[in-house]
Amino acid sequence: MPRLAAILVVLLPPLLLLSTVGAEAPRGGFGFVATLRHVDANAGYTKAQLLSRAILRSRARVATLQSLATLAPGDAITAARILVRASDGEYLMDMGIGTPPKFYSAILDTGSDLIWTQCAPCLLCVDQPTPYFDPTQSSTYRALGCSSSGCNALYYPLCYQKTCVYQYFYGDSANTAGVLANETFTFGTDTTRVTVPSIAFGCGNLNAGSLANGSGMVGFGRGSLSLVSQLGSPRFSYCLTSFLSPVPSRLYFGAYATLNSTNASTSGPVQSTPFVVNPALPTMYFLNMTGISVGGYRLPIDPAVFAINDTDGTGGTIIDSGTTITYLAEPAYSVVRAAFVAQIKLPLLNVTDDTAVLDTCFKWPPPPRRSLTLPQVVLHFDGADMELPLQNYMLVDPVSGGLCLAMATSSDGSIIGSFQHQNFHVLYDLENSLLSFVPAPCNLI
Ligand SMILES: *[C@@H]1O[C@H](CO)[C@@H](O)[C@H](O)[C@H]1NC(C)=O
Ligand SMILES: *[C@@H]1O[C@H](CO)[C@@H](O)[C@H](O)[C@H]1NC(C)=O
Ligand SMILES: *[C@@H]1O[C@H](CO)[C@@H](O)[C@H](O)[C@H]1NC(C)=O
Ligand SMILES: *[C@@H]1O[C@H](CO)[C@@H](O)[C@H](O)[C@H]1NC(C)=O
Ligand SMILES: *[C@@H]1O[C@H](CO)[C@@H](O)[C@H](O)[C@H]1NC(C)=O
Ligand SMILES: *[C@@H]1O[C@H](CO)[C@@H](O)[C@H](O)[C@H]1NC(C)=O
Ligand SMILES: *[C@@H]1O[C@H](CO)[C@@H](O)[C@H](O)[C@H]1NC(C)=O
Repeated sequence: MPRLAAILVVLLPPLLLLSTVGAEAPRGGFGFVATLRHVDANAGYTKAQLLSRAILRSRARVATLQSLATLAPGDAITAARILVRASDGEYLMDMGIGTPPKFYSAILDTGSDLIWTQCAPCLLCVDQPTPYFDPTQSSTYRALGCSSSGCNALYYPLCYQKTCVYQYFYGDSANTAGVLANETFTFGTDTTRVTVPSIAFGCGNLNAGSLANGSGMVGFGRGSLSLVSQLGSPRFSYCLTSFLSPVPSRLYFGAYATLNSTNASTSGPVQSTPFVVNPALPTMYFLNMTGISVGGYRLPIDPAVFAINDTDGTGGTIIDSGTTITYLAEPAYSVVRAAFVAQIKLPLLNVTDDTAVLDTCFKWPPPPRRSLTLPQVVLHFDGADMELPLQNYMLVDPVSGGLCLAMATSSDGSIIGSFQHQNFHVLYDLENSLLSFVPAPCNLI
């Protein structure tokens, strides 16, 4: 018997689990709790607009990853190193920079490592909602020298009048260049506010691309310049509320990043899977994905489809907070699509629009008085199974009007996107090189 997910009632109802999660007072140790705002929050978009904007952004982001292949033919490892894949993200984190602190929001990016903001004097800048950071107005700003460890951690350090100059390319058109400096940062909401001196960051005088509604980026990758690496308490977790919920999401850092307080008896056990290191893209969080089940059946997909190519570093599977939907390498996507088409008793829509991202779409709404069952989806990882709630993989697509699978095909590598980890508390434990997760009602914490 196939296992079937809940009956679908027009718009998918919010997940309601009565368990608690999140900020347990840390037993000593450094940490803070921050708010993550969705980039489109409070801009007056309808639910349909929120969905279609997020899906379109994810397409731009995945195109960036795929541009790897064309960037430097025959030298993909070098290409991958230059290309810190990012640009648009989905979540903004507030922080203070300098002394006295100037507060601004930065795009959280688990796919890159540098922390940077646009700085005065600005030679080329993009629009941002707060004034450019002015180093002359901060008593704690220190430009770093060319032989500093921060400068050595850059892939392409430049030296200009004994000052370390960084340059970062985020794939498509986005890039930033400027001075690498130490500065004091302030993090966390009121009760967990912390001030941390000497964080290396990029003070960007030459910037291009899109910053959504942020004023910079904050890298959460595995590289030594990322916030998570520099704070010396290498663990963080987040709990993303529903995409359509106005409730902001939470980020837990250091001692606050624990899944211990989640009630496992109501939400299922905490599951953990090891991170995999890809030498070609060492900042990214690669996972060992082993398969996918749809409707209780493990699909016939060779796990090699999800694996990193050891020769050139392409392929593999990453978890990425900045990509909305999940992208699956072929032939995995086609196999998943075929399973949905076989198991959903609704007419398949012929999606021919070139701008459409989602193409496993069914006629919607179903005929009156017909109950509908949808197949359950489980993503299998080495040592962990992620059983997705219905609202993490089905959506009513504003573009086609159909009921669509929130997944798409990828020509290089697979990405587990943030749509799929809504209402999961996800812990990135760098010390033990483990990703752990547990279902949680993120809007209640
Ligand atoms: C920058 O911060 C690092 C790490 O705390 C420290 O070792 C270094 O001396 C600082 N450099 C300057 C120029 O302040
Ligand atoms: C920034 O926010 C404003 C409203 O606050 C919105 O109109 C605009 O589209 C947003 N820009 C981007 C690039 O997301
Ligand atoms: C969480 O629980 C594990 C084992 O159950 C324990 O080792 C760890 O110290 C706990 N972490 C916190 C922050 O309480
Ligand atoms: C966890 O949930 C179960 C079932 O709702 C409840 O009986 C139990 O008291 C809860 N435990 C905690 C620690 O909240
Ligand atoms: C891995 O990459 C190499 C070099 O690009 C290529 O020749 C080989 O076919 C790839 N292997 C697989 C399994 O795709
Ligand atoms: C889908 O649309 C394309 C282009 O309009 C058409 O060629 C194709 O036959 C259609 N397929 C089905 C199954 O209707
Ligand atoms: C991935 O997981 C499988 C199954 O647990 C294991 O056999 C394989 O060695 C793992 N691969 C990597 C690269 O860790």
